[in-house]
Amino acid sequence: MSEAERAKANADGGESDPASRELPDWFDAVAEDVLEYCRPKQGLWVDLGCGSGGLGFALAQVSESAILLIDPNADALAKAVERARASGLSARVVPIVSSAEHIPLAEKSVDLVTSRGSIFFWKDPPQGLREVYRILRPGGRALVGGGFGTSYPAWAHKEFFRRCRDSRPKKENRTEEEKPAERAERPYETVRPWNEPRRPEWLAEQVQAAGIEAALVEPTPPGLWLLFERGRT
Ligand SMILES: C[S@@+](CC[C@H](N)C(=O)[O-])C[C@H]1O[C@@H](n2cnc3c(N)ncnc32)[C@H](O)[C@@H]1O
Repeated sequence: MSEAERAKANADGGESDPASRELPDWFDAVAEDVLEYCRPKQGLWVDLGCGSGGLGFALAQVSESAILLIDPNADALAKAVERARASGLSARVVPIVSSAEHIPLAEKSVDLVTSRGSIFFWKDPPQGLREVYRILRPGGRALVGGGFGTSYPAWAHKEFFRRCRDSRPKKENRTEEEKPAERAERPYETVRPWNEPRRPEWLAEQVQAAGIEAALVEPTPPGLWLLFERGRT
């Protein structure tokens, strides 16, 4: 396939109707970016606000590290436990029910922290960022933010957001029955509206309030990411 043909296939999925296609999983693409940007040592890695652990499992597939999955939602972690059992990874992928604001790990104990799609829902993002910094070993890095990964196909990225828009009733059209059902399905969205923090300026404000040095990844892989490293001391 020529470069031009590949670019076209990436742009429109190679088919005229992306709406009829199954979306590919994005966690492998995000894991590639994590390795590229953080170049972590093998050791102890954390997927913070992991949900059912998609990114943590993708990282487990491409490393020999132990992966701690941390999330306040025990139901989501229960799914991760099942998946770890089914894939023979229970010895290496370990769930912890906790939050970013209180990470039950020793200072300077982990080689990598990554967190996808979660900081936007933390009650106290600066405190969560300070916790991430605290647990990193000297030289350890963190990639915290949200997105799909550089190699995720553009057509699928676009299609994902189209489906989100179409599947969620517009706020003003929601019936009284739909409101609590939607809240129950997405309990982590109660802290602030879904799209309010998804701006580089918002992330920069959290970093400043945390008092750590972190840079927005630019040019950004699809999404919005903060990268930081704990100093060598
Ligand atoms: C949109 S989901 C993202 C899940 C997963 N990282 C992914 O990429 O699919 C947001 C996750 O953040 C978690 N979360 C909410 N508040 C949190 C907090 N204070 N600390 C850590 N995680 C939190 C939620 O329970 C939820 O699993």
